[in-house]
Amino acid sequence: MGPPGSGKGTQAAHIAKICGVNSVSTGDLFRDNLSKNTELGRLAKTYMEKGEYVPDEVTIDMVMQWVEDPDNSQGFVLDGFPRTIIQAEAIDSKLSDSGGLDKVLFFDVPEDVLVERLSGRVICSSCQIPYNLVFSPPKNPDECDTCNSSLYQREDDKPEVVRNRLRVYMRETEPVVQFFRDSGTMMEINAALSVSEVRSAVETALG
Ligand code: AP5
Repeated sequence: MGPPGSGKGTQAAHIAKICGVNSVSTGDLFRDNLSKNTELGRLAKTYMEKGEYVPDEVTIDMVMQWVEDPDNSQGFVLDGFPRTIIQAEAIDSKLSDSGGLDKVLFFDVPEDVLVERLSGRVICSSCQIPYNLVFSPPKNPDECDTCNSSLYQREDDKPEVVRNRLRVYMRETEPVVQFFRDSGTMMEINAALSVSEVRSAVETALG
């Protein structure tokens, strides 16, 4: 968990790799649906382009389908879910037989750093790796280092949409942070440090 630009996607990929499991970003699932022009994708677009959250019901259905896939039966990393109290209760209830979520990592980053990161972000159009033109630039500014596909900037990284995403995060997701703080499963990471320092902190937190 963490605000927009806190590094969830960057670190989720690493955690999934070292744990040998799959990770899923709800934002990526919506963008994937949008690129395939599905009904879910068209619905999600109307919320995402304003920086609002997609309604709980459709988001929960989508994540539960992913969680139930036999490929994910050995465990998984959830990136950007849950973001509302209703979503947190849904995943808690879904995993109640297996003891609930093992760990919740909260990436803490000051707002000015978030805005700086999001305005410099570019993403691979094929493998979705995020780069940053300031902090972690690709070798070639237009190409992914890993697969050479083109890089693009997200529509919702425009400054006015970023400001609303931060407002929505404060309103909807701050209470969820408190929910997990109270449950004792959450570990707080200082995610304002460099990617490699955050990675080390994550590895320590996961033991
Ligand atoms: P989503 O795509 O999940 O966006 P987000 O939560 O706003 O998060 P971001 O992807 O912007 O940032 P991140 O924390 O993953 O950071 P990243 O690693 O990319 O969701 C998009 C939309 O979908 C939402 O607004 C909503 O509409 C909808 N949605 C998604 N989930 C939902 C849900 N559960 N319920 C309802 N609606 C939902 O890093 C950012 C940049 O910083 C990159 O350029 C990166 O290279 C750089 N960077 C990362 N770490 C560091 C570091 N340590 N130092 C320097 N630079 C760094």
